[in-house]
Amino acid sequence: MADGFRIRFGTFAPPTKGVLVVFCDDGLRLGPATRAILGKTAALVSRAAAAYRFKGKLGAAIDIVAPPDLKVDRLVVVGLGKPKDWTPNDPVKLGGAAMGKAGAATEITVVAELPTGAMDAELAADLALGARLRAYTFDRYKTKRKDDEEAPHPVSLTVAVKDPAAARRIGAAREAVADGVVLARDLVNEPPNVLFPDAFAQRAAELRKLRVSVEVLDMRALKRLGMNALLAVGQGSGHDSRVVVMRWNGGRPSDKPIAFVGKGVCFDTGGISIKPAQGMEDMKGDMAGAACVVGLMHALAARKAKVNAIGAIGLVENMPDGKAQRPGDIVKTMSGQTVEIINTDAEGRLVLADVLHHVVTKYKPQAMIDLATLTGAIMVALGQEHAGLFSNDDKLSENLTKAGQATAERVWRMPLAPEYDKLIDSRFADMKNTGGRHGGAVTAAQFLQRYVGKTPWAHLDIAGTALGSPQTDINKSWSSGWGVRLLDRFVADFCEP
Ligand code: BES
Ligand code: MN
Ligand code: ZN
Repeated sequence: MADGFRIRFGTFAPPTKGVLVVFCDDGLRLGPATRAILGKTAALVSRAAAAYRFKGKLGAAIDIVAPPDLKVDRLVVVGLGKPKDWTPNDPVKLGGAAMGKAGAATEITVVAELPTGAMDAELAADLALGARLRAYTFDRYKTKRKDDEEAPHPVSLTVAVKDPAAARRIGAAREAVADGVVLARDLVNEPPNVLFPDAFAQRAAELRKLRVSVEVLDMRALKRLGMNALLAVGQGSGHDSRVVVMRWNGGRPSDKPIAFVGKGVCFDTGGISIKPAQGMEDMKGDMAGAACVVGLMHALAARKAKVNAIGAIGLVENMPDGKAQRPGDIVKTMSGQTVEIINTDAEGRLVLADVLHHVVTKYKPQAMIDLATLTGAIMVALGQEHAGLFSNDDKLSENLTKAGQATAERVWRMPLAPEYDKLIDSRFADMKNTGGRHGGAVTAAQFLQRYVGKTPWAHLDIAGTALGSPQTDINKSWSSGWGVRLLDRFVADFCEP
């Protein structure tokens, strides 16, 4: 990325350097403060729009270099389309689109105004969030640059608003969320030789700086708790397994916590049921659920959310080895239920089984949401646009769906039913770890459900949404940080007073 990305909120005033970004609607209308800042240059905008056949479509933009009557180097005009037709996430995308067009600049000033007048503080903060997410890159392992590539440089973004104090207040909360998304993206992008389970646990432990209490369970603690399924997945690895439990107590002491659980398979070779070589490098991202939970806990703590939240992550590496678990093995999970291993590549559910059980029994949460890059089958079903949502609770599902619409991190509810559950019954143990060819994402969810008891619970299968992300206005990176914005919003809208 830009080495640093600084966001300030200022008043409507003509900038003296860098790039100036202004907005117009699909009638090429500019707001009053924008017209005042542009002065004579407003006429140039109409001419440039005609030359580019620019119609002010949402997210489209034109660029005017060295406008004669302004001190800035470039003027960028970004289309708003019809603001009254916007969907809830459009302001964030707009901020991303504006940042994309402003591009290489180090000083960017965005005039947060609609043709009808100043954008409110919320809208301005959303623009800044989108710009920040768009600017994200992960290049800490690049030591060389091609001739035409620019060295990373800090970016200073000024958002000009009517009421800077109000925008700063909401902007700080949005920045907490942006930091959480960036943290999640970074963790997912890190290579698996760097981010093995204990290294991941150390990164999570850094949340202590934000007054999150962080407990790292080492091998001894995991054995003592009886997390044998999680340990079985990690037993073929040269790296020890870890479980990390993070707690943010921003609510009243009497409020039951809401729990978030993440799959943290730092690398998934498949184990003895080894995966094909093609694309296996992507399995460094098999800890995206855990990364999201850490990013979310960061966001909640940094914006001092009024909620009690638990974040629990199971960190292992799934490797083939003389000590690795085999198909045919039977393991006793922490819950006491036994599992016959059919395929060692169905490892995520084994990790989650023990962490879900631990969280339910120890913390008695009001609700529990897990995130996991659990199955390839969910990508077959939903592609990369929705995460699969499986839940035993209609209200929880409805609230997650609403938060998904608000943030454009969308979920699509999938079924759970006894007929699917039967498919994971085993001849030799209480259950087996795969359910056969059909409904692979569903049988995986059925497996998890056997470990949550009566706790309202939702499982998000994020195999399609977290990795290998399509390029969007707000993300150019391989990892998306998917789920941080969704769950932050879920907490804000449905768990905080
Ligand atoms: N981590 C994978 C799922 C995955 C695939 C995530 C592609 C991201 C992208 C998971 O552990 C896995 O291997 N699942 C198997 C389950 C099967 C063996 C029942 C799968 O989906 O093929
Ligand atoms: Mn696997
Ligand atoms: Zn996996």
